[in-house]
Amino acid sequence: MKSGLVRTERNPCGRAAISGRNGVRKLLIPWNGSSSIVDANVDRFLSLQQRMVDEQSTTGEIYLQKSTSSCSSLAVIFDAGLMSGRRSKMVKICCVGAGYVGGPTMAVIALKCPAVEVVVVDISVARITAWNSEQLPIYEPGLDGVVKHCRGRNLFSSTDIEKHIARADIIFVSVNTPTKTRGLGAGKAADLTYWENAARMIADVAKADKIVVEKSTVPVKTAEAIEKILIHNSRGVNFQILSNPEFLAEGTAIKDLFNPDRVLIGGRETPEGKKAVQALKQVYANWVPEDRIITTNLWSAELSKLAANAFLAQRISSVNAISALCEATGADVAEVAYAIGKDTRIGPRFLSASVGFGGSCFQKDILNLVYICECHGLPEVANYWKDVIKINDYQKSRFVNRVVSSMFNTVSEKKIAVLGFAFKKDTGDTRETPAIDVCKGLLGDKAKVCIYDPQVTEEQIQRDLALNKFDWDHPVHLQPMSATEVKPVAVTRDAYEATKGRTASASSPSGTSSRSWTTSGSTRACRSRRSCSTAATWWIRRR
Ligand SMILES: NC(=O)c1ccc[n+]([C@@H]2O[C@H](COP(=O)([O-])OP(=O)(O)OC[C@H]3O[C@@H](n4cnc5c(N)ncnc54)[C@H](O)[C@@H]3O)[C@@H](O)[C@H]2O)c1
Repeated sequence: MKSGLVRTERNPCGRAAISGRNGVRKLLIPWNGSSSIVDANVDRFLSLQQRMVDEQSTTGEIYLQKSTSSCSSLAVIFDAGLMSGRRSKMVKICCVGAGYVGGPTMAVIALKCPAVEVVVVDISVARITAWNSEQLPIYEPGLDGVVKHCRGRNLFSSTDIEKHIARADIIFVSVNTPTKTRGLGAGKAADLTYWENAARMIADVAKADKIVVEKSTVPVKTAEAIEKILIHNSRGVNFQILSNPEFLAEGTAIKDLFNPDRVLIGGRETPEGKKAVQALKQVYANWVPEDRIITTNLWSAELSKLAANAFLAQRISSVNAISALCEATGADVAEVAYAIGKDTRIGPRFLSASVGFGGSCFQKDILNLVYICECHGLPEVANYWKDVIKINDYQKSRFVNRVVSSMFNTVSEKKIAVLGFAFKKDTGDTRETPAIDVCKGLLGDKAKVCIYDPQVTEEQIQRDLALNKFDWDHPVHLQPMSATEVKPVAVTRDAYEATKGRTASASSPSGTSSRSWTTSGSTRACRSRRSCSTAATWWIRRR
């Protein structure tokens, strides 16, 4: 809010009034200080503002201020641009991809920038329908409130991709970037099919200059390829490509977006590139302090995202490797991690031993990094990062082996309750959750597995247990049909039901609704002598 341009005025008659002089339009609305009235009025401001834009009135930002005097009205002044001699227009943002990144990120931009219109588009009709419903397609603490506040006001979700791309000034692309399953780089390289489709669509429908922002995590130098697609397929339209990788963590996405450690924007070092960087920087500057907005060249921004995820995953594999040694020597990994983390050069975060990391990003991004290193003739560097994944796989199988060997070397026909299936707490996301490998390992030994997770449906669990490696990272309606075999698992909506008559349980300390296997949780199996079940009870505890 630029207070220099704000004026408050008394509206004695207590009714909304619009007035205009010298190109300045004012909307005066009675206000008793209640936020619901402000909310209702903000709607009216925005619809008026939109009308002015649609009618091609010269208009720019919207300024709101609560009167500090005894005035009972709220005044809004539309800067018609005539005052400053410039014509400005409402910034329109379109985000291609309404997933775990596109959805929350755009909702927060809409909330923090009421004068920006944000439309999220997707090829998945089901996803868009859910974003427009009471039951959002993803669970994320705080997301509901943000969406409800902005939806229909300056935040919209649509499947009309072409229309909204054509209208937008800034286009974020936040589509899937799965690991390739065939061809060159299979099993490691990123498959950029969805990105390429989005870029071709942008080139096809754009009739005016656009800023295209890489929000998906992509291999370094992707912007160069995207630029080629856009330039070769456009008809005289100028595109500026920016890299603006997303660092949010699922489960705390809204908190992270409200208060990011940093926002990274990479662009071309040309005058046009710098202008585009500034335009995007202005959007974030609505709520992110300037010193937290880092600008770099394109390649640094692209590579920083892969490197950041590799470093985070590496810490988890490091502490998990130490956990194996702790178990062999009688040291307690939690005590060791605490002692290590007290060193300010190391710090305490991401130092809890666990069954291994999961989620859609860490493994995929490290594989991507490995492939890039190999392509640049750096096999030693590639192998170094590959080992982070190897330790992660080792930790998951080590965990299953310990459970099985501790139960007289077989879990056949033994009921094992799994409390929590998503890859970490406060999310319903099951992509690459270690629970999949753990359940598959136990099922391989013919255990009777009963799963409880309040945020994950039975259909999702069955799909996860049946899908082939890497197939999960495609839009749901395009996922390969590998999910044919129904696994003999029971899924329950009741945590107590899951544990009834069990021989063993895998759960968090509370034993209720949280996730057992998280990137930050520590797990260890410990025998409960108090158990009255026929065999020993095993609790896999998270710290
Ligand atoms: N999930 C995270 O925590 C996270 C964090 C940072 C970065 N990323 C990266 O962000 C990107 C998106 O991740 P996500 O978790 O949001 O994935 P997601 O699968 O939840 O969402 C991607 C969406 O893109 C849609 N889509 C695909 N192609 C499209 C097209 N051509 N036009 C319109 N819509 C299209 C899909 O239908 C899907 O809804 C990935 O590159 C991922 O690596 C993810």
